[in-house]
Amino acid sequence: MDAEEKRMILEAGKLGKKALELAESLVEPGALFLDVAEKVEGFIRENGGEPSFPLNLSINNEAAHYTPSPNDTKKFKTGDLVKVDIGASIGGYLSDNATTVEVGGKGEYSNLIDCSREALNRALSVLRPRIEINRIGQAIEDVIESFGFKPVRNLGGHGIKKDDLHSTIFVPNYDDGNGRRIEDGQLIAIEPFASTGIGMIHNGMGGNIYIFSGTKPKAKDPVIENFRTLPFAERWLERIKPDYKDYLKKSVSAKQISQFPILKEHKGAMISQAEHSILFDGDQVIVTTK
Ligand code: CO
Repeated sequence: MDAEEKRMILEAGKLGKKALELAESLVEPGALFLDVAEKVEGFIRENGGEPSFPLNLSINNEAAHYTPSPNDTKKFKTGDLVKVDIGASIGGYLSDNATTVEVGGKGEYSNLIDCSREALNRALSVLRPRIEINRIGQAIEDVIESFGFKPVRNLGGHGIKKDDLHSTIFVPNYDDGNGRRIEDGQLIAIEPFASTGIGMIHNGMGGNIYIFSGTKPKAKDPVIENFRTLPFAERWLERIKPDYKDYLKKSVSAKQISQFPILKEHKGAMISQAEHSILFDGDQVIVTTK
């Protein structure tokens, strides 16, 4: 693959990893979700990148897609199980990585947290050039079931392309029988989710994360110019468009912009997640966020 492209993919991975470490260190009892998100996203920008997507801070039965709103007052409480998910973009080349933190660290969910981490490690250990996609899922499923938990079936890893966080490949957290092979030059995210519930998530309310969907407006649009094809936070609109609330409302009702729903298991279930980005380059398999 092109050396310059590869350099940027690796750089995006390194910055994404550092951002995740920073986020992990900031999640503590009493901290505001909003402060953590602003600090972590600011860190990425100060270091020459852009967030691949808004920092996701999803708690307990939420698997993904919550980011603080512009005036968010939520604070972390001892015992919250937080999925921290972030990535960096370097010139449109992206990374995506995640981990799970138990706020206050009492160790009540250590098993569940270890489970998704070990499932990810097992998946990484079976990777080789042109691996069949379902083999990755099988490795994840084996580990999660050995812990007595359920892999989440309708959420998983994904292909990543330039300016495209969720390209067509779906990397399942179970053996879905898809024998298609990962191709040379592909970048993917592997992200096991382990659940104490049924292993199926559904759409909840909006989580303050948006993306351009339908037909793009013809007039020059500063929001499109800024975020193009990547997800963005309502918080980020404030900076580039003072009248953003009205704009957002109109664009959503015109179906030009759509809001991601929070993805959640049923009430009372707990979910953990671990994620890395991986580049397949010739005979090398490189974890870019490690
Ligand atoms: Co991902």
